[in-house]
Amino acid sequence: MDNTSNLETYITNILPTIEEALLTSLPAKPNDARENLHNAMQYSVTAKAKRIRPILTLLSHRLFCDNPKKIMPLACAIELIHTYSLIHDDLPAMDNDDYRRGQLTCHKKYGEAIAILAGDTLNSFGFELLARELPKHFSPIACLKAIAKLGHALGLDGMSGGQTLDFLGTKTQQDLQYLESTHLKKTGALIQACLYLPALLEEKEEEVQTHLYQFGTHLGLLFQITDDILDVVGASKDLGKTGGKDQEQQKLTYVSLSGIEGARKLATHEAQKAKEILTQINYPTHLLSDMVIRIEMRTY
Ligand code: IPE
Ligand code: IPE
Ligand code: MG
Ligand code: MG
Ligand code: MG
Repeated sequence: MDNTSNLETYITNILPTIEEALLTSLPAKPNDARENLHNAMQYSVTAKAKRIRPILTLLSHRLFCDNPKKIMPLACAIELIHTYSLIHDDLPAMDNDDYRRGQLTCHKKYGEAIAILAGDTLNSFGFELLARELPKHFSPIACLKAIAKLGHALGLDGMSGGQTLDFLGTKTQQDLQYLESTHLKKTGALIQACLYLPALLEEKEEEVQTHLYQFGTHLGLLFQITDDILDVVGASKDLGKTGGKDQEQQKLTYVSLSGIEGARKLATHEAQKAKEILTQINYPTHLLSDMVIRIEMRTY
């Protein structure tokens, strides 16, 4: 909407605003034993992260509107909920990771009970934030639809379902169809939400919402394929988490099924599909298109 045409400049300018909004969105710190829970939430939320999901949410909203303040509660809620998913993903019963976002995982620092509760609280607080803030800017019916869609994206047909398939896939099925379904749910659903919920809230044409949803499908898949590749080729210090975990835990990934080169080809294919869909959207999508390249080429 404004003259910022360069993605790097856009991201450099918007990141401090996102960090500030995330910090101030958190609930007040209680003055009793719950302080520990609050500390754990803040520890995981404020750690060094890429903030891909809030950036995508803001970029998608920017197609239609030049007031990012309207969509910031959605951008923040999604990042808080994403942080919950990482805290739980790292737990000993799941991926059993010691490092995340360049620091000890939440359970390593605060213990498992507090880490589980920090994840739970970030999840429910994300929805509280949306129900409280979105109606200040959007119609009640659009808010309810968006909140229901986000809930759906996190449930059986979305993240939790995908995490279950991920866990079971380690032992059972080993084919590309199963893997794609896993990745679309565990990672894709939330990335889709970042992309089409701003259009839903702004009550834009169904066709635009559908295109942004489809764009999210390919971008989400691309994001998880590159995550699988980086687990093998990335440096732990760049990733902020321990590399080589997927092979160690015999995870079904794009690399385990197709090898590094095969996975890279699939990533290029998804990036191409994503960019094709953007050409069908009648709004200025060049920054979203640059975002596809940035994700395809990412090294962390
Ligand atoms: C990691 O997400 C988990 C996946 C869905 C692959 P990110 O790579 O976005 O992690 P942060 O938020 O930058 O830490
Ligand atoms: C995590 O996938 C997906 C979610 C948190 C929903 P991974 O297990 O591959 O993520 P990393 O590699 O630990 O970041
Ligand atoms: Mg996992
Ligand atoms: Mg993991
Ligand atoms: Mg991974």
